[in-house]
Amino acid sequence: MTGPHTELLAHDPVAAIRWKDDGLELLDQRVLPARESWLRLESATDTAAAIRDMVVRGAPAIGVTAAYGAVLAVREAVKTDPVGWREVLGPLLQVLRVARPTAINLGWSLDRMERRLQTVEHEPVAAALAEAIEIHEQDKFRNRRIGLNGAPVIEHGSTIVTHCNTGSLATGGFGTAMSVIRAAWEDGRVASIYVDETRPWLQGSRLTAWELSRCNVPARLIVDGAAASVMREARRGWAIVGADRIAANGDVANKIGTYALAVQARFHGFGFMVAAPTSTVDHGTAQGSAIPIEQRDGAELTAGQAWQLPPGIGTHNPVFDVTPAQLIDCIVTEQGVHRPPFAVSLAEACESAAASAE
Ligand code: MRU
Repeated sequence: MTGPHTELLAHDPVAAIRWKDDGLELLDQRVLPARESWLRLESATDTAAAIRDMVVRGAPAIGVTAAYGAVLAVREAVKTDPVGWREVLGPLLQVLRVARPTAINLGWSLDRMERRLQTVEHEPVAAALAEAIEIHEQDKFRNRRIGLNGAPVIEHGSTIVTHCNTGSLATGGFGTAMSVIRAAWEDGRVASIYVDETRPWLQGSRLTAWELSRCNVPARLIVDGAAASVMREARRGWAIVGADRIAANGDVANKIGTYALAVQARFHGFGFMVAAPTSTVDHGTAQGSAIPIEQRDGAELTAGQAWQLPPGIGTHNPVFDVTPAQLIDCIVTEQGVHRPPFAVSLAEACESAAASAE
């Protein structure tokens, strides 16, 4: 891969998923940045639990992890029944499939693993592992392309605001929105970078800040509510985010707070860019209102507080929201920069991606 600004996309100082000594290892994102601790997983059920409990998170990273989880599932199934392993496999894959509901990459990756396993005649574990590694490598390649495609859209002197964590931790490597930010910064286009802390799980302050620091890209942390004032003061720039699922019409489900950021960007004349691989586009979902939104335990809202909620006060913790397509200036995939209206362009991008993967 060549280009004028590829240094930061040539090497990745952060990795969160590895296949090592016949097992899956995940960097535990629940304890970052305080501790760098790797968990070893030997079964599909443990992998599903790790996805559900956010040991690994971020749509493409969940997809890559699920692919390796499927390898563990095949291994278990073959051990249980070397002849009828396919029947044993189905329920194990289903456990992975329902681990989290919003990120489409989970289902995309398991569909691909199932397609590969339908045709395999010998050595199903080896075939599954080869497919998982390909999914992983392809995600890294696509993310680097996203960075190279997206960076030229950013005008010189732009202020960047980003939300959640979209870097190497959230993907197979290099990141989505983070890939654009890395490339645009290296190309001298960025005046300053602001990182939303991303309540309540703090993906921004715990993970994005750590990753940018690892890449030697300077940034400033803000509370989510500061983004509007930052945009008003900066006057020009881009809000750049990732996606958990993109509906066929270009509506985007992403971390809660993304919709608010898009409204604020439009009001302040900032561009709003969504960066995601084509594996995040869900053509089976016509529009954002049909995307399932994960609700997590309300305890996430009060974690770390020294007091209890008073009587009569409950919690409401949807962890994603949907940004309507009309608030999005461009969606950047590995296939290029897509402008509104998105439907045709996204469909064509997915077709090209499928054709080039064959
Ligand atoms: O709940 P999370 O941490 O899995 O949510 C992650 C996000 O919303 C990311 O922004 C999204 O997956 C895009 S990451 C490349």
